[in-house]
This record gives sequence, C-alpha cells and structure tokens, in this order.
Amino acid sequence: MAAIRAEGLYKVFGRRAKEAVQRLEAGATREEVSQDLDATPAVIDASFEVQPGEIFVVMGLSGSGKSTLIRMLNGLWEATAGHVYVSGEDIAELPAAQLRRVRREHMSMVFQHFALLPHRTVLQNAAYALDVQDVPKQERDERAREALRMVGLAGWEDQLPVQLSGGMKQRVGLARALASGSEILLMDEAFSALDPLIRREMQDQLLKLQETLGKTIVFITHDLNEAMRIGDRIAMMRDGRIVQIGTAEDILRSPANDYVAQFVSDVDRTRVLTAGSVMESAKVVLDTTTDAAVAKRALRDHDAHEVFVTASDGTLRGVVREAELTDSKRSIGDLAQSDMQTVRRNTMLAELFGLATESESPVVVVDDAGRLEGVVAREALLEAMAGSTAEAVGDGSVDGDVVASQQAAGDESGEKQQAAIDRAKAETRRTDAGIVGPGAAGGA
Ligand SMILES: Nc1ncnc2c1ncn2[C@@H]1O[C@H](COP(=O)(O)OP(=O)(O)OP(=O)(O)O)[C@@H](O)[C@H]1O
Ligand SMILES: [Mg+2]
Repeated sequence: MAAIRAEGLYKVFGRRAKEAVQRLEAGATREEVSQDLDATPAVIDASFEVQPGEIFVVMGLSGSGKSTLIRMLNGLWEATAGHVYVSGEDIAELPAAQLRRVRREHMSMVFQHFALLPHRTVLQNAAYALDVQDVPKQERDERAREALRMVGLAGWEDQLPVQLSGGMKQRVGLARALASGSEILLMDEAFSALDPLIRREMQDQLLKLQETLGKTIVFITHDLNEAMRIGDRIAMMRDGRIVQIGTAEDILRSPANDYVAQFVSDVDRTRVLTAGSVMESAKVVLDTTTDAAVAKRALRDHDAHEVFVTASDGTLRGVVREAELTDSKRSIGDLAQSDMQTVRRNTMLAELFGLATESESPVVVVDDAGRLEGVVAREALLEAMAGSTAEAVGDGSVDGDVVASQQAAGDESGEKQQAAIDRAKAETRRTDAGIVGPGAAGGA
C-alpha cells in the first residue's frame, strides 16, 4: 500500500473556492479562474502515490504550489477537493483528534528555517515532539540523544540554539523529526537556506540515514540539482499542476513538455545519467572453456572486437581482445585479462570518464554477484557527454526525445518561457534572501 496517496487534490484560496474547482474541472485556466472569481488556485488536480521508504521530491519554481501541496498531505490545509490517504486512510474522514494524532505521531515536518525554542537546550529541542506526545522523560532523552548522534550533533546536547550555526540548527530540526519516530517526513525546503557546501553535506547525510531508516520522505525543493541528487522520483510542478512525475533519468531523457525540457536543460547530465542508461549488451559472451579459434570466428560473425569471458556461474572472468586470440588452441579462459574496469548499473557517467580514459577496454557493467550486465563503449560515453551540447545545436545524434523537445522549445514561445523561468528564478532568489524569521519558519 502506498504510504501517501493524493487523488485529484485541489487547493484554491478565496471565498469562491468550490466554484473555482468546478470551473477548473470544466477546463478553465488558472488565470481565468483567478480573474473571474478572485481566487488563487494553488494546487490543481494533483494525483500521485508515495511508496513506503521512497524519497519523493516535489520540485517547482516559487509559487508553483509546493508548500500548499505538502500542507494538505498532513492535513494542515484542508483540501478544497480531492483526497489524501495516509496508509490507506482518508485523512479528511478522520475525526479531529485522530487527525492530530496522525500528524503528531506518523508525520513530521522540517522547514527551511527551523524554529528552535531559544531557551531550551539542543537535547530538549530535539526531544520536543516527544514532549508533546507525553513520552516519559528518560525514553525521551534517549531517543533525542540517539537522533542527535545520527545527524552528527553528539556532544552538543547541552548547548543552546544560539550557539549553533545555521546548518547545525537544521540538523536539530531533522533530529527532532527523527526522534519523533514518525515514519513519514515532510521536508519543505529544509536545506534551502544553507550554504552550498553544508547543503551538500546535509543531502549526503539524509541519503545515508535513509539507507538504514527507510523513512517515507516528501522533500520539497526548487533546486533541480538537489531534486535529482536525492529524489527516487520527482514531481515537477508548474502553476499549481504536476506536469511530470518520474525518476531524474526519466525527466532528463524524456521531459513531458517544453517547460520541463527548458527547466532541465542546464543540469549536468553526467551526474544524473548512469552506466545502466547508456550501456549496451555485450556482443560476444563466451564460456571460459571456449577455444580461441571459435572465439575468433564469433568475433568476425558479430563484427565485434572483444570477447567477454564468463564462468559457468555467469560471473565475468575477463575480456580478450581480437589481437590476443593468436594461439588458436588455447582456451579463452587462459587468455582473459582480468584487469577490467567494472562498475555498477547506478554508477554515474561522471565517474566513468576517468575509467574510460585509463584503459583501452570498454567499461563493463556487472551486478552485485559479478555477472555481466552490459558494456559502455567509449563512443557511447562520449556521445552522452556531448549530449547537452549536441542538443543545444539541434544535432539529433543522441536522444531523439530530448532533442525534439529542445528544438521545439527553441521557437519564440520557448524564448518567452526561458525569460519567464529566468525571471522566476531571480524571484526565487530574492524570496530566499528576503524571508527569514518566524513567519517563514512557521506554518506549524
Ligand atoms: N494562505 C494563502 N492565501 C492565499 N494565497 C496563498 C496562500 N498560501 C499560498 N498562496 C498562494 O498559492 C500559490 C502557491 O503558493 P505556495 O506557497 O504553495 O508555493 P511554493 O511552490 O511553496 O513557493 P515557494 O517556493 O516560494 O515556497 C501562490 O500563488 C501563493 O501566493
Ligand atoms: Mg514553499
């Protein structure tokens, strides 16, 4: 069962909200509705599922509806229409007391500027959620201590918030969420106010924690690189609507529309695309006992230049290049070079470049058991690397889908869109810099 399921979810601000939903359902645009009814459709017809243990990122420019969406997931905002199911239960149907309990015990929220209680120690702040839940003091402290240790703040328990840096305060916020033991974390721009280095550290830490904790995380950001780095899947929002849901790779390789294509155009694809996405199957794979003469023929038949040698259990033993197949009596098991460059499916392209230049042989993709999965030819790697430049000039050599939409986006409307995106990004930066303090930290 999905940990969270949203179904046809709407949030419209304004007195004629219900009417606005009807108009939207009948096909009216957001602009029409906001003009005619003096209403703000913040979230329009959002449907998605978040699986247990998944990091689901909601990504979009400022004002696209991310915070409104996440606040409906924990019932802080009542949906104007549609449903939110948490572990299968429609939260709109829950009596108020039970909804509070779900919000308190099953979901925790971490904000951009986490509001710590200034006169309480770090430990007390981390234990805050448990305090509210009436957990006995000793257990409370133990759990808070453990959570602080997990986020790298062991030793800081007795300090006051004022003694902490911004990054450390965010860690306390995260520790509070972890100490609460809730299985769902809702993180709204939780790392956005941090310096790039610290931010990256926090992302790493979250990913590492996630390996062992396996929480269900809804993570909001307007930073695409952050989204791609930590999201198992990403929902892209624009003007209140979810325009695409997919893995980083899905979104990069087949953006749903020009808007998304533009949005992702300056992402470093070598840090998103993986070996698995560019590998091909090996042309000639033969058992160790095969003799060289047979291998040579196979190479000729398949117009290939190397044989991949596997043992009877399927594990890869090595590679033999054409030129090494001189002694036709010997078995290829004897001839196999074992100094291959092996990687896993999920290794990023950025890491492959170094390997590819170190050796003549292609980079080989193997599974956890060492079985051959595929081969990344140098040409494929170079093409993928050239991908972004090739697409920019409309060279159709790399990825048909992406190229087509990039070209489509190159017309006048595309330019307008780019200008709009630039404006919105500038706007986002201003907002980030401007809003600090209890207002922004609030919501809870
Ligand atoms: N309480 C409210 N009353 C009226 N309009 C609101 C309210 N909260 C949000 N909105 C509007 O709803 C839209 C979506 O806002 P929301 O805060 O969800 O966007 P966001 O994607 O989280 O943006 P940001 O990246 O700036 O945090 C915006 O047009 C906003 O002005
Ligand atoms: Mg927001």
